[in-house]
Amino acid sequence: MRIGAVVLAAGHGTRMRSALPKVLHTVAGRPILEWVLRSLASTRLDDVVIVVGPEGDAVRRLAPPSARLAVQHERLGTGHAVSVGLDALDPSCDTVIVLSGDTPLITADLVAELVADHQIGGAGSMVTAILDSPESYGRVVRSATGAVERIVEARDATPAELAIAEVNAGLYCMRRAALEQALGRVGSGNDQNERYLTDAVTDLGGTLRAVVSPDSDVILGVNTRLDLAVCETIVQGRLRRALMLSGVTMPDPSLVYLDAEVEVAPDTILWPGTHLRGTTSIGTGCEIGPDAVIADTKVGEGSRILSANIRESEIGVGCEVGPFAYLRPGVRLDDGAKIGTFVEAKNSTLGRGAKVPHLSYVGDAEVGDGANIGAGNITANYDGFRKHRTVIGAGVKTGSDCVFVAPVRVGSFAMTGAGSIITHDIPDGALGIARARQSVIEGFTEKAEAKARAAANDASAGKPAG
Ligand code: UD1
Ligand code: CA
Repeated sequence: MRIGAVVLAAGHGTRMRSALPKVLHTVAGRPILEWVLRSLASTRLDDVVIVVGPEGDAVRRLAPPSARLAVQHERLGTGHAVSVGLDALDPSCDTVIVLSGDTPLITADLVAELVADHQIGGAGSMVTAILDSPESYGRVVRSATGAVERIVEARDATPAELAIAEVNAGLYCMRRAALEQALGRVGSGNDQNERYLTDAVTDLGGTLRAVVSPDSDVILGVNTRLDLAVCETIVQGRLRRALMLSGVTMPDPSLVYLDAEVEVAPDTILWPGTHLRGTTSIGTGCEIGPDAVIADTKVGEGSRILSANIRESEIGVGCEVGPFAYLRPGVRLDDGAKIGTFVEAKNSTLGRGAKVPHLSYVGDAEVGDGANIGAGNITANYDGFRKHRTVIGAGVKTGSDCVFVAPVRVGSFAMTGAGSIITHDIPDGALGIARARQSVIEGFTEKAEAKARAAANDASAGKPAG
């Protein structure tokens, strides 16, 4: 038996009301189609064809290199889409798995169970599930003997058929020759004037077996944004559960959002309002949140991140970030470094134990080991045309409210005076100070008050102001 898979992903996704193809909407940060393709990973397949629409360029990018794409130029229904897919499928495949690109919760176990069921015999096997609210799914009509007789789409169903709770999962494994012949006989006499795959599946000219999915959630399809939210909730529940069982604390798991690829080591605590996205990985013994959005970032063990937004960065061991910190792409904190309150950083490195505690902007900068940046410092990295780097050496202490006009270099263990605009390099161990000298005017307040009083008297005596 040589098995090929045809994945249907060419539909308009009209009910999503979106400019984005339906199968590219994400669940836990991963496109729906990618979830579906992953469900095939543990089945030995000889070929995979993804049926896409004519504008399927974005879909194309998602396809694994081993998969082939077939373009369905006109959306004439799921039956037509499978015909298009079969034309492209390796002719040596005598068995074909058909699945919808819009069912993100399908598991590899269910696909394996389906293939095993088909190996028992018959012309094909399909997956069904019992749903509490079967809504728009195709209903499975069985005969008196219990065999599957027909699949009726909800919009074509009679009230009696609509009352059936067993639905078609849209996942099948069939003898290719039987399917091809049956597809040749399919008409479009239905509410949508489409060629339904379901009509072919129930007309294979041999026994059609049915596997009832023990878990009804896994067959859920996404047709609307409501369905998308239902799938998201289910996947979030699974991801949270897996992390908690692996040793991660979540005082309120319902307020922690995780993407599918995220990794969190044991003995880390995720407080409410924590969103971990993309390829983020968090080490052991960290405390994250409340309120932290962290994307595509690696966080070393024992770090503390509170009220922060961090993207594409790397945080070392025992670091502190926040509250109210914004780390844009390319920030690297060495072990024990700190980015504090109301600090924005991008494309910069902080050495071991370096600290930027308050109200600063650090962009295109290198801050050396143990340096301490005073409150309200700015690296002025942009001259209106190009970006330049600021290099601050190890052990430097800068005064409050300094501006570093890049390119500029501050030597190791140097200092800067508060309120300085630093435009020239400062050698190692030196003090850089660049501000107007203070002048003092003695008795100023008394003189100013006397002047104001005289002006008021003149005004009440009717003299013109002046
Ligand atoms: C389909 C089934 C229904 C089943 C449900 C399970 C049919 C007629 N109905 O309904 O019995 O309960 O799936 O989720 O098969 N597609 C194409 N080209 C087309 C039309 C659709 O590639 O011309 C693709 C879609 O992108 C989608 C899949 O086929 O990935 C299913 O199409 P969709 O319109 O979502 O079918 P449902 O109404 O959900
Ligand atoms: Ca669907």
